[in-house]
Amino acid sequence: MGIKLSASIIAGDFYNLEKLIKETEKSDIDYLHLDVMDGNFVPNITFGTSIVKKIKNITKLPLDVHLMVNNPEIYIEEIIEYINMINFHIEVIKFPFRFIENIKNIIYSKNLDVKVGVAVNPVTDVGFLKYLKGYIDNVLVMTVDPGFFGQKFIENMLFKISLVKEIIKDWGDVFISVDGGVNDENIEKIIKAGANYIVISSFLYKGNIIQNVEKIKRIINKIKY
Ligand code: DX5
Ligand code: ZN
Repeated sequence: MGIKLSASIIAGDFYNLEKLIKETEKSDIDYLHLDVMDGNFVPNITFGTSIVKKIKNITKLPLDVHLMVNNPEIYIEEIIEYINMINFHIEVIKFPFRFIENIKNIIYSKNLDVKVGVAVNPVTDVGFLKYLKGYIDNVLVMTVDPGFFGQKFIENMLFKISLVKEIIKDWGDVFISVDGGVNDENIEKIIKAGANYIVISSFLYKGNIIQNVEKIKRIINKIKY
């Protein structure tokens, strides 16, 4: 599937969202990662569904949405036709099969092509994944506690990435995403552990986004995995 790179916009300049997105578009980025936080599931608030829709209006970049919210179903129906991938946290879902079926029914009924991903907090065990074969397109491994950009990558998560890789080895085209604390120094070991979809915010938006994406892509292209 190759390695995908997704820019999480939250460390960018929010005072001029359009400029931020236009600048990001000029880089060689593959996706935009939109962190929706409700101040409830996580102790921070970013933006909600109306901003996701506005972003869709100003960019052709594919959008992956990371819902760090309680009651994600309320958000999903609102934005599903504007985005390319939806990720919800397993920690807030009591009945994952019914939940995923509902999302897929909406996707099919609207004739959309949207990937469905499940996000896991650092301390959440990934054993449950083995029951979800055939149900999901992405496993989003949080490598920091969610809620804020600029946190330090949790090294113990490398082992978790490799566990996920082992669990999904015969699942076909399913992404293993990594989100939190990724930079030019740790990306190689993260990819070698099994990640193939990398979400980055601080490293990309500190300084020049075009050059930072280039730098990360150069590293990715050199990795033998
Ligand atoms: C954290 C978010 C991440 C975060 C990544 O709660 O889900 O997407 O913005 O930012 P960095 O790359 O700064 O850790
Ligand atoms: Zn995120």
